[in-house]
Amino acid sequence: PSVPIVFDESSFPAELLKSAAYDVVDGLPDNFIWYGYGMGIQQKEGAATASYQVEGAVSDDGSGISNWHVFSHERGRVNHNDNGDTADDQYHRFRADIKLVNHNDNGDIADDQYHRFRDDIKLCADMGLTAYRISLSWSRIMPTGELPINQQGIDHYNAVIDTIIDNGMEGIDYYNAVIDTIIYNGMEPLVTIFHWDLPMALQDKYAGWLSPKIQDIFAVYAEECFKAFGDRVKYWLSFNEPWSFVRSGYSSGNFPPGRCSDRALCEEGNSGTETYVAGHNVINSHAKATAIYMDKYAKQQGGSVGITLNCDWAEPLTSTKDDAAAAQRFLEFRLGWFADPFQLGWFADPVFFGKYPPSMVERVGSRLPTFTPEEAALLRKTAPSFFGLNHYSTNFAADRLAHMGLKGKQLQLARQAEIANNPGSWGKQLQLARQAEIANNPGSWDSDIGAVFSSVDANGDQIGPTGDSPWLHVVPWGLRKLLNWVHDRYETPILITENGCDVPGENALGLPFVLRDPFRIKYYQGYLSNVNLAVKEDNVPVIGYFAWSLLDNFEWADGYSKRFGLVYVDYPTQQRYPKASAAWYSKLVRVQRQGS
Ligand code: NOJ
Repeated sequence: PSVPIVFDESSFPAELLKSAAYDVVDGLPDNFIWYGYGMGIQQKEGAATASYQVEGAVSDDGSGISNWHVFSHERGRVNHNDNGDTADDQYHRFRADIKLVNHNDNGDIADDQYHRFRDDIKLCADMGLTAYRISLSWSRIMPTGELPINQQGIDHYNAVIDTIIDNGMEGIDYYNAVIDTIIYNGMEPLVTIFHWDLPMALQDKYAGWLSPKIQDIFAVYAEECFKAFGDRVKYWLSFNEPWSFVRSGYSSGNFPPGRCSDRALCEEGNSGTETYVAGHNVINSHAKATAIYMDKYAKQQGGSVGITLNCDWAEPLTSTKDDAAAAQRFLEFRLGWFADPFQLGWFADPVFFGKYPPSMVERVGSRLPTFTPEEAALLRKTAPSFFGLNHYSTNFAADRLAHMGLKGKQLQLARQAEIANNPGSWGKQLQLARQAEIANNPGSWDSDIGAVFSSVDANGDQIGPTGDSPWLHVVPWGLRKLLNWVHDRYETPILITENGCDVPGENALGLPFVLRDPFRIKYYQGYLSNVNLAVKEDNVPVIGYFAWSLLDNFEWADGYSKRFGLVYVDYPTQQRYPKASAAWYSKLVRVQRQGS
């Protein structure tokens, strides 16, 4: 049963209306971004969610089960798995009955959006948003991951997409109605084809992303999506954050399929290949799916296919050349340890240029697969016309070896030794540091390129406040720098497909306190102001912005313990409660639309 939700500012307690929310709105620069950027493209201001994180109903209407379903039902994988309640042999029984009651955090119910999408979309519209980014569950559309399709899955997403479009006019102010009607005929659906939930049958049969066979299988799935929904979807994202599901699936092991190949190998003094193989298959899958779209659908449907890549900003710790180079390597290529690592070039260079970054080729060496000339040509041909970017956090980067006091020739030799992957040749000091790193950070030493990433500066001061997730540091200027870096290197318009935060202690606070979230409002205010500066001062074309997330939801390995929503979800009742940040964002969108 669905609970109607009405987004109504007047339902907020009076004192909340006077809270930081509106102070921050008033404090925004005049003429914020959004409309009128001279690219002939209407700005999209939206919010985002992803299938497994919000839908629930994992077995409804003929859906197959996904890797995340299996993984989250295995003990010890996801938040809350450790409680005593789970000692029920469910590890062996999850396949028999996917409705099995258990006490682990998993996506069985999530936000129950499968049954409540109409209300959630209406909520977006009532907030005045012009776009909603969803992802499709491959297992609903193709239960085994391969043909045949499951018509009920298609029907479901048809209903979702139609509802998004039908809601376009509701809650949208009259001065925008004309433009919206002409251009998009309403609120716009942005669709991610793969946001991490892989049909389990493909994992079992082909070892998932490790097999090159997955490339064509993904392309078949993507084509079914274009066929079914492409008349209404103009912005496709083939993959969401390949770096995240590849690195966490095959290197650190905290996402399915839970492979720690690098850890096992690094203990033997070697390093892994699986992560790179999986990444390579994802990149080629993207190109194949995009090629199909370009050849068969683009002309008639008029949309385009991009990809969403994630990156933190890396700020050099000091003004030395060594630290600047360490920061650059972070952005180009890094598997990483210490602070949560990100890197863009690993995926973005192939997708936009048809080749891996030279820094990566040099360091990963023969473990990095190579593109055939045909694959490279296809990648160049299918280079997206916009760059989908997810961004959350910033860290300092420093050259570890230089900071260890190694200089000149010594430094050079130590670097060469690392690159050559030859631990035996290091100095004692370096070797001990290396061993400590391996012990503390299993799973990633192969990519040590002599850099340290840290959230504290040389004086021990934090780079910015931390969200509820320890990896998230609030550093709004980092986004402006990253937007510039991405635009300089890839020269495309940028669509910010995710940006947002969780709030320290939010989950523990509960209602009604959690609805007052000035921390989140300040985050958005800071980051959006920097988007604005990047657009206005630096001439970076940003064509849209999506808050992550519309709703609190299943935060992968962290289960329900982290809440990224503009809207609070009370899981036992499934009632939605817009937080102050939802009111703030809604007001921002309306005010900015009016002002331009
Ligand atoms: C990135 C992912 O795309 C999304 O699924 C996740 O919930 C957010 N970041 C927050 O960690």
